[in-house]
Amino acid sequence: MSISSFKRFTITSALPYANGPLHIGHIAGAYLPADIFVRYLRMNGKDVLYIGGSDEHGAAITIQAKKEGTTPQAIIDKYHALNKETFRRFGISFDMYHRTSEPIHHELSQEFFLRLYEKGEFTELESEQYYDEEFGQFLADRYVTGTCPNCGYESAYGDQCEKCGTSLNPTDLINPKSTLSGKTPLLKRTKHWYLPLDKYQPWLEKWLLEGKKDKWKSNVYGQCSSWLKSGLQPRAMTRDLDWGVDVPLKEAAGKKLYVWLDAPIGYISSSKQWALDNGKDWEPYWKKQENPEDNSCLIHFIGKDNIVFHCITFPAILHAHGDYILPEHVPANEFLNLEGDKLSTSRNWAVWLNEYLDEFPGKEDELRYALASILPETKDSEFTWKDYQARNNSELLAIFGNFVNRVIVLTHKYFEGNVPATGKLEAIDRETLTELAGFPSRIGSAIEQFRFREALAEFMNLARLGNKYLADTEPWKLAKSDMERTGTVLNIGAQIAASLSIVSEPFLPFTAVRLRDMLRIPAKNWAEAGRADLLSAGHLFGQPELLFQKIEDSVVEAQLQKLQNSRKQNDLARQAVTPSKSPVSYEDFIKMDIRVGTILEAEKVAKTKKLMKLKIDTGMDRRTVVSGIAEFFQPQELVGKQVSILVNLAPRKIRGIESQGMILMAEEKDGTLRFIGPHQQTANGSIVS
Ligand code: MF3
Ligand code: ZN
Repeated sequence: MSISSFKRFTITSALPYANGPLHIGHIAGAYLPADIFVRYLRMNGKDVLYIGGSDEHGAAITIQAKKEGTTPQAIIDKYHALNKETFRRFGISFDMYHRTSEPIHHELSQEFFLRLYEKGEFTELESEQYYDEEFGQFLADRYVTGTCPNCGYESAYGDQCEKCGTSLNPTDLINPKSTLSGKTPLLKRTKHWYLPLDKYQPWLEKWLLEGKKDKWKSNVYGQCSSWLKSGLQPRAMTRDLDWGVDVPLKEAAGKKLYVWLDAPIGYISSSKQWALDNGKDWEPYWKKQENPEDNSCLIHFIGKDNIVFHCITFPAILHAHGDYILPEHVPANEFLNLEGDKLSTSRNWAVWLNEYLDEFPGKEDELRYALASILPETKDSEFTWKDYQARNNSELLAIFGNFVNRVIVLTHKYFEGNVPATGKLEAIDRETLTELAGFPSRIGSAIEQFRFREALAEFMNLARLGNKYLADTEPWKLAKSDMERTGTVLNIGAQIAASLSIVSEPFLPFTAVRLRDMLRIPAKNWAEAGRADLLSAGHLFGQPELLFQKIEDSVVEAQLQKLQNSRKQNDLARQAVTPSKSPVSYEDFIKMDIRVGTILEAEKVAKTKKLMKLKIDTGMDRRTVVSGIAEFFQPQELVGKQVSILVNLAPRKIRGIESQGMILMAEEKDGTLRFIGPHQQTANGSIVS
């Protein structure tokens, strides 16, 4: 069935783990395309439920808690609140943004598990699983890393290889390592409940391989068919973890549901909460209807690392349950790169959405536009700040903004802001109106086929049409001799601007509102776009305001500098910390006489790069010390500085100068030296111990 034949839609975007902030890679993968799609559907009068929320279980959360030295609950509370607010600020128009830690979700997940359990769908199996002796715990999923048996990638997780996307079991990894202790884990027996994906293979081949051929995007269909070809394996739906949804069986006390069982059920529990909050019924959005034609159209927007879970595991679970509809489409995107490198949270190689919103207030649409034009729809793509700048300056501003501005300014100039009536139409007018009429369905059809880049380009082509029409007819010249003709041209220009305010909305929702305010028109349905009579003669425009501002080079440079800084931080962090030396006794330590002193004089030692000759007041005397700090400090900044000085170091001759002691310095990993001195002004000669 085609998109337009459905009346009701259940649209989901992957529930991001609440273990960190959102970056542009998340947005380009699963959120911006979904938001464009749902806004378009709503403008077409469809019944749409757009669901999102935080994924708050799984090792991703507990590992982050450990890293930040806090509890899993504190982590999810922090990032759920941050991400929910960030989506809102960016105009991602969820009907509900829920969280999987809520009781309503735990209950529904347990209900699902029990239904499958009672139907006898699970296989119970005792097996050997990795166990970290030092930490006394089983190592599920991301707690084990090792080499992917499929592609050889060395940092694959126990549940999935991020490089080739293959879903794995920890015991599949070559050279497994515990992420807790860093050691090779042991095998220990434990019992779990498995979903026999091998048993569903024939059903999946029919539903997916036959049913979705030539319907699903080829990157998605291709991945699925290659997994099916290599044969599906049973997958454990329970885990030995202490964070997650309890397995609702007595004999499974202490065990938790597998996060990839409970997380997609989060779409459904989020819908239930939406229904409760809004006095609605959630079931028509999820359950099979008596008449299949009344079924909702379920679409999952995700990134490519989630394909196996949304195309194979979750459909198998829904199928095994029996009451639920299956996804009609899973328009997964590939990955977005940033300035020539993979986006990475741990390496801080990212444009964080909350930071962007803070640093670029009022420029939500500028980023939406830049991202929509490079969505990784069929292959990986790349965000660069130069491209962002160019999209803003030479498309949004120079084409769209400029056209709208000219229409409104000229209408004010020649007709006091009232849309003029048309006179006799010439060929160019008729052609332009015919072209205008064709745009909305072209843009809409691209959106319905999940070709958002193409849809966006068509939207900009409509603004181009407007600009070309003005350039060809030159109303500013006509106004000198032929007011009627000027009126005709500006009327048609106004109709194009009004259509732009409609078709821009899915992509640029903030700008669409501003444009409608300037044009003084209410929100309209998609079907009205393209018409030649959206504005009647005499309609009064508001005052023109610029929709977009130029983005200067300095702005781009500042962002590139920020990225450079995180690269530098990373390089530093990657160099291992020097291990500690062997123990010394207290008696040994107190042999050293360290005092506070003040530098009185400083001069570089001639013909050396590193050496500085210092005169230091030690409280006991004034002495000379030669120190290797000249690369990092200028003599004048040293005078007056308080330092710690080892005063009983046997004197040594350095470059012919007798050095009578040593000042203490800290050396950063990149070799930078920093003083170790008292933090408050301290009397010279005070003992450091
Ligand atoms: N949290 C997962 C991730 O970030 C996505 C979960 S999507 C859902 O990869 F299906 F589980 F909801
Ligand atoms: Zn791999």
